[in-house]
Amino acid sequence: MPKTKTTPRSIGGYFELQLTPGSEYYPNLIRLNTGRNALEYILKQKGYTKIYIPYFTCDVILEPLIRLNVEYRFYSINEQLEPVIDFAIEPYACFLYTDYFGVKRDAVIRLSKQIKHLIVDNSQSFYSEALPGIDTFYSCRKFFGVPDGAYLQIRKKLNRKLPVDSSVNRFSHLIKSIELGTEAGYTDFKANNEDLENNEIRSMSPLTQKILSGIDYAECARIRKRNFDFLHKHLEATNLFKFDIADDCVPMVYPFLHNARDLKVHLIQKKIFVATYWPNVFKWTNKKMYENYFTQHLVPLPIDHRYNLQDMFYMLTILQHFI
Ligand SMILES: Cc1ncc(COP(=O)(O)O)c(C=O)c1O
Repeated sequence: MPKTKTTPRSIGGYFELQLTPGSEYYPNLIRLNTGRNALEYILKQKGYTKIYIPYFTCDVILEPLIRLNVEYRFYSINEQLEPVIDFAIEPYACFLYTDYFGVKRDAVIRLSKQIKHLIVDNSQSFYSEALPGIDTFYSCRKFFGVPDGAYLQIRKKLNRKLPVDSSVNRFSHLIKSIELGTEAGYTDFKANNEDLENNEIRSMSPLTQKILSGIDYAECARIRKRNFDFLHKHLEATNLFKFDIADDCVPMVYPFLHNARDLKVHLIQKKIFVATYWPNVFKWTNKKMYENYFTQHLVPLPIDHRYNLQDMFYMLTILQHFI
């Protein structure tokens, strides 16, 4: 029998970082390095030459479109954050929709019946299972303590092996925040995010995959739901963004829309770090557009597994000072 050469397995020596073994949430989906590269994978595999994208999304979505020279057109959303489709979508074009904050599952289902080549961006809706036959991608770092990583559902897989991503040099913010706090890791967080720009499609790094295998997904989902429900109970009446969510939805944040001036600034001064989704929307839209208003006034309150109800109560008390 011919001998095959394999590197012998090493035994002993020092320990590796000890992570809890377990399994991933989407073991059967394709593992990739980033959400934007998952979109690139879809565009390549399906050979789309035109895409409709919302004004209300993150500009990194443009990376694959520019790289592949795919024509793109923006579309508007209404106050429910659903597409305003007052144009004909060419039969060869695809249409990207985001399950915003993880509260737009119903819209995703409706659009999947209405639009031929729908692509679902579940970067903000990690727990929302992809609909059968609908190309869907997830970005893991929006929900969990990993620096990168994405999952993709698509029927037509690439028939070549992808290079494997490496995350070792993107970990500093995740580690620093444990010992030194979120603020101390912020500069690294920005630099590590920049490192995700303009990369080729790679498969998920082994380190990210290992961390994702050790997460207690049910517990993280339970905490998110509990925190979300608490805030919704107290804020629904004043929240200008109206939504209905099914019991099994696990949102990314609590999307609170309010006209109070500088609300986000006040919260940040109180060390409640709320993001702007997305700064590029100000460049893409004018003040008359709903996306512009929404980006300005949305306060996405954190609800994730790091926080308990006392934290939610504290955040609510501070917020109520300013509204
Ligand atoms: C809505 C949305 N889609 C896609 C992405 C891209 O994900 P990734 O950073 O994993 O490429 C982001 C953010 O980066 C996002 O906010």
